[in-house]
Amino acid sequence: MRYYLGLATTFHDPAVALVGPDGSVLFAEGTERVLQYKRAPNCEPDPAGRMIGLLERYVPRGSEIVVASSWGEQFSDFLRGQQASGAFDLMALAAHPTTLNRSFVPERAERIFIADLALAQARAGYGTLLALNQESRGTGAAARAEIVAQARYPHHLAHAAYALWGSPFRDATAVVVDGMGETGAAAIYSLRDGRIAEVRRQRGRGSVGFLYGLVTDLAGFDQVKGEEWKIMGLAPYGRPDPDLMDELRRLYAVENGRLKFADDATVQAVAAEIRARRPADVGEGGWADLARSGQEIFCELMDVLVAEASALAPHDNLVIAGGCGLNSSYNGRVLGRSAFRNLHVPSAPGDDGNAVGAAWLAFAADHPDWTGPEAQARPLTPYLGSGVSTEPMERLAEQEPRARRLGLPGVTREAARVLAAGGLVGWVQGRAEFGPRALGNRSILADPRPAGAKDALNAKVKYREAFRPFAPSILAEAGPDWFEDYADSPYMERTLVWREDVRDRVPAVVHADGTGRLQSVTAERNPAYAGLIAAFAEITGVPILLNTSFNVMGKPILHTAEDAILMFYTTGLDALVVEDWIVVK
Ligand SMILES: [Fe+2]
Repeated sequence: MRYYLGLATTFHDPAVALVGPDGSVLFAEGTERVLQYKRAPNCEPDPAGRMIGLLERYVPRGSEIVVASSWGEQFSDFLRGQQASGAFDLMALAAHPTTLNRSFVPERAERIFIADLALAQARAGYGTLLALNQESRGTGAAARAEIVAQARYPHHLAHAAYALWGSPFRDATAVVVDGMGETGAAAIYSLRDGRIAEVRRQRGRGSVGFLYGLVTDLAGFDQVKGEEWKIMGLAPYGRPDPDLMDELRRLYAVENGRLKFADDATVQAVAAEIRARRPADVGEGGWADLARSGQEIFCELMDVLVAEASALAPHDNLVIAGGCGLNSSYNGRVLGRSAFRNLHVPSAPGDDGNAVGAAWLAFAADHPDWTGPEAQARPLTPYLGSGVSTEPMERLAEQEPRARRLGLPGVTREAARVLAAGGLVGWVQGRAEFGPRALGNRSILADPRPAGAKDALNAKVKYREAFRPFAPSILAEAGPDWFEDYADSPYMERTLVWREDVRDRVPAVVHADGTGRLQSVTAERNPAYAGLIAAFAEITGVPILLNTSFNVMGKPILHTAEDAILMFYTTGLDALVVEDWIVVK
């Protein structure tokens, strides 16, 4: 039996994935969750303590393991080139006693990853890699589990593999856009009858992701902290400023339908020019006009890439992957701006998703006839992470009579009642979402009807910037009644426009520009969550809940029931549901 361990090995958003002998994704999770360290910068994806439980749970004794990672050989060449040009000292980085080198210097990184995995195997009783090899060689005894191969895959190919094979399509065109790959920051792939082929790879250092990062910094945020999404939230509060847009347009040109980015000197000049234009009264809330202008420019850049993809690999089905796929505002508009008719963006378009992509590529290499998961396993569910134990709720109930096990129908009724009365509910069910969005398994929920719900939620639990919108989860069958040009949005991947006549019914989830980043919920995808929204709709007539991730500002989404109980008692949550347990304040 052969298992495929995928490692997302960028210096941000590391993740692990396990693909089984039949090609199904058994597990996928960002390392930030177990570490409770947002985006886990510079952390190895597979800490030994983590791998023990995963291997014991998913990989039977006697299995073979193929380790697949998300940066190809060319990344080593790129780093050597950077070092040669004096951009940074690779050897100093490699020698640095932090974990930075683990995720940034591939040769070293993989040694350490494998060492961690071997350590985890040893602690789980599998024996170390070395011992296993000696054991099998020396005694002829079969190893209990053995790493039989290591494979590295090009970064953008890993993005594309995860997004294309996880899509509902057998045929599609993928546009991968992020900060950087081995040779450039965008690529186009085609899926034809389940087989992936590279269509074109952008070359050079210019990048849509970095341009958006520059706007993030100039608007008063920090791209190092991954605050690019604040630009999207702030943009509707600003106006497109023609002068700022002209400046930003100096950063790129379109030649023969292709993007060409400006040189470093121009980037520096534009940054200086924009800084000089910054009004004195821009406070901590950020520079809204620049955010708006930057978002408009982002859309222009994406349009060029999407049009190029459409010309080179025309098809009805578009897949967007890479970190720029998190721009739900663009995703919601792209179909109206291109020849594509259907869109899929996976739940983890950023670098965490590459753990699945790399594992799938390794699986495909061993199974040349494989053309993606079975139809019933597509699109790929986002609920691929860790489950929770209800033991902490049982222990809580020994001291807290209001903690009760009511069964799923019971907690659903009770939670719907609390929500309809304006309460805030922490809702923890099943396996965690893979990717940055809470999709009803690690969510804080609220009634979307009161205009003040957003401020109350910020004051009581989330403590985040007032301009950031909260998102709606809606029963899929009700979607067309509430949104213009409704399209199924299973992963909160796109922002759509609310119908004019319903906006004042759910003001807490209507953004300043009349949009909402919706999640379409069906009983098939998430029965417990669909049941809760239906129960809420029965009381209120509104098949929509405000859904935000179950975390506090600056922390990742919680990982255990203990985390949930801690948040319940230290914030203004009114009720906490963990599986079929509930505790109400
Ligand atoms: Fe990436």
